[in-house]
Amino acid sequence: MIDIFKEVSDYCNFDIPDGIKVPIAIVGAGGIVDGAHLPAYKIAGLDVIGIFDVDQAKAKDVAERHNIPKVYKSLDELLADPHSVIVDIAVPAALQPEIFYKVAAAKKHILAQKPMATSVEDGLKMAHAVEENGIVAAVNHQLRFEEGMAAAYRMVELGWIGKVTNVTIEVNLVTPWEMWPWAKDLERLEIMLHSIHYHDVIRWFLGEPNTVFCVAGRTHGQYPKGETRTISTYSYDEGVTALVHANHINRGGDNRAEFRIDGDKGSIRGTLGLLYDYPTGRVDTLEVNSQVVPTDGWTPYPVTTRWFPDAFRGTIGSVMRAIATGAPLRSSVADTVGTLRLVDALYKSMDSGVSVKLGKQ
Ligand SMILES: NC(=O)c1ccc[n+]([C@@H]2O[C@H](COP(=O)([O-])OP(=O)(O)OC[C@H]3O[C@@H](n4cnc5c(N)ncnc54)[C@H](O)[C@@H]3O)[C@@H](O)[C@H]2O)c1
Repeated sequence: MIDIFKEVSDYCNFDIPDGIKVPIAIVGAGGIVDGAHLPAYKIAGLDVIGIFDVDQAKAKDVAERHNIPKVYKSLDELLADPHSVIVDIAVPAALQPEIFYKVAAAKKHILAQKPMATSVEDGLKMAHAVEENGIVAAVNHQLRFEEGMAAAYRMVELGWIGKVTNVTIEVNLVTPWEMWPWAKDLERLEIMLHSIHYHDVIRWFLGEPNTVFCVAGRTHGQYPKGETRTISTYSYDEGVTALVHANHINRGGDNRAEFRIDGDKGSIRGTLGLLYDYPTGRVDTLEVNSQVVPTDGWTPYPVTTRWFPDAFRGTIGSVMRAIATGAPLRSSVADTVGTLRLVDALYKSMDSGVSVKLGKQ
């Protein structure tokens, strides 16, 4: 069994070869850049040459602590720096498209934080800007590069559990929404900011569903205005289904983050360790029970890295690989428009109380 795990672990090697590394400039010096982008880039040995944030004090503080040589005074100054090849954008989604268009027009390659925009229309315009300017642009849907999730994807691709019949992702969390004051009054909260990762991954595994249905909840005394619990179901051809249940006001305090993929020849189950004690987290787990390869019941697969910060090497590495070799992106802007479309359908279902058609009608 250990030998055949190699095919899986090779797929989950997110090291970035020196020959393809290019300099990065960053827009946004917020929590995610400080806590995940920059630690991941340090592990990967990447060169971050400068950073810009409208909050200059924050940019200076982050630059100082992460040894970034330059703090730009404006986006224009950042774009005029000929040394950066990739611009890594990490600002709230509503503000991202305007920055994105300017970066694309400057012919810099882009890694944009998720959600890349708050509407499908903006997403389509961003995809158009990528085409028009001939740049490489990906969205930081880094759950696709989380080692356990990526290993599960590869096991499915190798046929270890046969034809997938269901994907379930369930999280029950104490989420510190106070960390994002800009999100306090958002009407669209939980799916747009958090579960979008799970919905994106389900699209990655199963493609576009035929229909989706979603209900949402709030609880007395919660900090944000938007929904903090969502239950979403998907329907595909031939009885294939998917489910996401996410709750962020867990008053029991017993955080849980589990996923399970069932096939007609076995199952895979795992946990996302990060969410058990965000942002510190604990190790992920992954197990496979297969009728195709030799497992004796549930067999553990050794996950050796974490969603934060390690998976962030995957997204930036894929942009570098695409620039160097033309290799396809795992989460391109063009593909990710589909995730925005899916998210929009879930909100339409939530608002209307009926299921929404998406794929084949
Ligand atoms: N897993 C993930 O990939 C993940 C996790 C957390 C957050 N995010 C996303 O990353 C983005 C940023 O989140 P965060 O947690 O860092 O938020 P944050 O509030 O900590 O930081 C946002 C930063 O953007 C800066 N900013 C705002 N407008 C700007 C502009 N026009 N130009 C330059 N800087 C500007 C703010 O001053 C602030 O420093 C959000 O879209 C969020 O959804 C992704």
